[in-house]
Amino acid sequence: MPSIDLLLIGFGAVHRAFSHILLYKAEALARRYDLTLRVVGVADSSGARFRAEGFDLATLLAHKTAGEGVSTFPGGQPAPGALALAQIASYDILCEASPVNLRDGDPGLSCARAGLRRGKGVVLANKAPLVLDFRGLHELAQRHGAGLAFSATVCGGLPVINVGRRDLIAAEIHLIEGIFNSTSNYILSRMTAGETYAAALAEAQRRGIAERDPSLDVEGWDAANKLVILANTLLHFPATLDAVSVQGITALSRDDLLAAQRRGQVIKLLARAEQVDDGYRLSVTPQPVPAGSFWAGVSDWQMGIAFHTDIYEEIYLKIDERGPTATAAAMLRDLIHLAGAA
Ligand SMILES: NC(=O)c1ccc[n+]([C@@H]2O[C@H](COP(=O)([O-])OP(=O)(O)OC[C@H]3O[C@@H](n4cnc5c(N)ncnc54)[C@H](OP(=O)(O)O)[C@@H]3O)[C@@H](O)[C@H]2O)c1
Repeated sequence: MPSIDLLLIGFGAVHRAFSHILLYKAEALARRYDLTLRVVGVADSSGARFRAEGFDLATLLAHKTAGEGVSTFPGGQPAPGALALAQIASYDILCEASPVNLRDGDPGLSCARAGLRRGKGVVLANKAPLVLDFRGLHELAQRHGAGLAFSATVCGGLPVINVGRRDLIAAEIHLIEGIFNSTSNYILSRMTAGETYAAALAEAQRRGIAERDPSLDVEGWDAANKLVILANTLLHFPATLDAVSVQGITALSRDDLLAAQRRGQVIKLLARAEQVDDGYRLSVTPQPVPAGSFWAGVSDWQMGIAFHTDIYEEIYLKIDERGPTATAAAMLRDLIHLAGAA
């Protein structure tokens, strides 16, 4: 049975959920896909470790849950950090789930580049590398014959990228609309119900859904990042973040939400890519939508997307994602595809 050796860059909410899935699904992966997945390298903010025979994930998870960093894990050999692992270690696929860093993309961007330059598969949950260097990463992947997959970066488990790429063949997409950020969506839903902004944000953080820097969620940048990835991937429009007009939810009060309710509306943080003469106009803004509409029904932990096309008419998708497991599952589906096993 072939085994695929993985590096996990970041060992936070997503990669811990991913590790739980690997434990839970080990037998099914072997039976259905003849596949064994081994984690041979792992990095967090404390450092990195490598073990050619693979780590015992249950012990590694227990170590991390006890509040310890990877650098103090007793098994394997220490490595100077994530980038050194990506550059030197022996592995097949690099999985990247470190925090979004829109300044220089690191450690995610450097690790992704290092993996691709070595012809390794790269699976991203972290949006920053794509937002900062979408084209460069794809050129590297092509030059080195490496696989690059990132279906987890837009709406976690919701198969937005895959549906758009695989199932909208030959379509002209006139408009993409979406509720892409569940933290801000949850905050708006809970504030309407009478909860405070701070309590709702704390719950999103407790569940491992909020970004490490939650200003990315509530100020609209997380949704804008996803819009940039969709524009480049599905609309063939080489947008960068500065092309997106961004407004978050921080200026909204409960009175604003209740006033909208009295008008028969709900306020949602909507991302839009609308076709115009010279490409697409991209925006993320709070918008009133009619109560009873598809968007009003995307509430609490849900995210959704609508594709308005010429030949497939309108396609609506939504997901109820209450923690990081579905995002971790999206990384698993990407790597199984990269491994050519499905
Ligand atoms: N959570 C979700 O539902 C979700 C959904 C879609 C996409 N994503 C994306 O997935 C990524 C990870 O999210 P998360 O929720 O797992 O974040 P998280 O819980 O904050 O975990 C981030 C991990 O990265 C580690 N890290 C920080 N700096 C590092 C460095 N220089 N080198 C190596 N590791 C480093 C952290 O180390 P410590 O443990 O030592 O702090 C932590 O283990 C983010 O880019 C996020 O946007 C998350």
